[in-house]
Amino acid sequence: MSSFTISAAVLMISRPWFIMFLLCSGPLKAQLGTTPNIKHIVVGRCFNYITLVNPSLRLDCEEIWRQFEEAVVRQSSCNVTVEDYNHMFYAMAQTWPCDRFLFWSKTRTLMHIYTAVVPHYWTLEDTLVGYMFNDLIWCGQEEDSGFDFSSCPDWSACRNHPVYSLWRQASQNFAEMACGNITVLLNGSIVNAFSRKSMFGSVELESLNTCRVDYVNIKVVTNLDGPFIESCSEGSIVDLIQILQSRGFRWTCTDNEETLMILQCIKNPKQASCQTCANSLSQIKSLTLT
Ligand SMILES: *[C@@H]1O[C@H](CO)[C@@H](O)[C@H](O)[C@H]1NC(C)=O
Ligand SMILES: *[C@@H]1O[C@H](CO)[C@@H](O)[C@H](O)[C@H]1NC(C)=O
Ligand SMILES: *[C@@H]1O[C@H](CO)[C@@H](O)[C@H](O)[C@H]1NC(C)=O
Repeated sequence: MSSFTISAAVLMISRPWFIMFLLCSGPLKAQLGTTPNIKHIVVGRCFNYITLVNPSLRLDCEEIWRQFEEAVVRQSSCNVTVEDYNHMFYAMAQTWPCDRFLFWSKTRTLMHIYTAVVPHYWTLEDTLVGYMFNDLIWCGQEEDSGFDFSSCPDWSACRNHPVYSLWRQASQNFAEMACGNITVLLNGSIVNAFSRKSMFGSVELESLNTCRVDYVNIKVVTNLDGPFIESCSEGSIVDLIQILQSRGFRWTCTDNEETLMILQCIKNPKQASCQTCANSLSQIKSLTLT
């Protein structure tokens, strides 16, 4: 149901905003500081989630915030480990139904359209932690009890970046929970559609449990106008299939599934490859009008 992809300069995660952040954060040393009003945003999103999105969850949003703050503040901004978030994750334990887990890498925009029309899928962004922290930045400062709102270090500048550590653990938890048939949405218009540096390749794949997962259904999708670089039988996706096979997973792989292409055509109906579809639609229209 929810798959969250983060990609960092070093590690690509399967939570989307995270990926953007990482990709954009290349050579700069310092990034923006902690997102203003972070407490109101995080606690507000939490209440929104447990009240409107998933009212069956009985969790304490104030306590989750306290544990988050505890992990981050009074630490040097590059010194927050995955373990520092243990108490927070403990306070927000959540389970997800099988057969709905969607992982993705470098397909964030299409993933959002896809999950909007196929609400069956869940990504990391649909989990409480993904929902609460999506698109936010934070870091603490040593010898101070607050967040640093003026600047936070770049991902690549730290081994234990507070934002990265949280997403890494969230991705790992998400993948460990994955069960039944899972889906992986990869971008065939780039080299290394399956990257060992991505959050999917570095964290999530490792954390999938052979006993819990029935099938890994890979969907490779290219841009309508290409480039057509990788596919189920070309490039890094072959490596992914080999890894899955050697670990004993059953898998399927589909190139450019029709639904995914049609969704791209909606955004860009003038594209040559969309014309067949557009022509039959206008035929239907003229038939109904006459
Ligand atoms: C990083 O954190 C550890 C444990 O919390 C602490 O012992 C160490 O002094 C910290 N290092 C820096 C540079 O803040
Ligand atoms: C593939 O990745 C490129 C480069 O990041 C991006 O512009 C494009 O939208 C992606 N294609 C799909 C189908 O997600
Ligand atoms: C799981 O995937 C396999 C292979 O694609 C398919 O045959 C099977 O029907 C799927 N099961 C469910 C519950 O979706």
